[in-house]
Amino acid sequence: MNSAYATDGRYIHPSILNADFMSIGAELDKISTADSVHVDVMDNHFVPNLTFGASMVEQIVERSPIPVDAHLMIADADREAPVYAEAGASSVTFHLEAAAAPVRLARELRRKNAAVGVALRPATPVEPLLDVIGEFDMLLLMTVEPGFGGQSFLESMLPKIRRARRAISEANLQVSIQVDGGVSRETIERCAEAGANVFVAGSAIYKARDAAEEIAVLRELAAGH
Ligand code: DX5
Ligand code: ZN
Repeated sequence: MNSAYATDGRYIHPSILNADFMSIGAELDKISTADSVHVDVMDNHFVPNLTFGASMVEQIVERSPIPVDAHLMIADADREAPVYAEAGASSVTFHLEAAAAPVRLARELRRKNAAVGVALRPATPVEPLLDVIGEFDMLLLMTVEPGFGGQSFLESMLPKIRRARRAISEANLQVSIQVDGGVSRETIERCAEAGANVFVAGSAIYKARDAAEEIAVLRELAAGH
């Protein structure tokens, strides 16, 4: 993959879903010590919420001091996802539930120079994906139902993280595991211990008094595992 994540690294990706969109430039500067900015693209079909489109992602790419990690919560990923690689996102993650041909799509995104992630909603089992997991740079295991920030972490996802990490290690693959939803000081260590190495945190970082300090604390907690 193009660089972005080594499976032995720990990466903090603040989500701007709960940032102040009227001051997006300043909100991006606040998190410049993080590894990537996580941009949640929602189309009001795949999830009941509407956020950014490709032209906004392109503007965020231009303005952001750090790489853009696009999380696409959109229907018809096969057709729509490549546009986000063209917009300059460093990594593009689509949902397995929204893709008809995930392997073909992953290869197309890699050809467009994006790292590729595949995301699973909480109730989607990881096992059917394991035979093709080497086609991806990252597996995003949602730890809330996608759609909104500020929900509480689903503890029941920890065994899924553990099973996925075990299978990836046994296959000798370098695939990162990203967790997204309810990740905070209270939950990040359990995610890391279970085998996640890329951590999305929205409200934990944007509601903190000092975003940079919160990023440092989260990184430190994740690094202990
Ligand atoms: C939810 C999004 C998340 C969200 C996380 O559908 O994918 O990235 O911003 O927000 P928190 O960290 O507040 O749960
Ligand atoms: Zn997300």
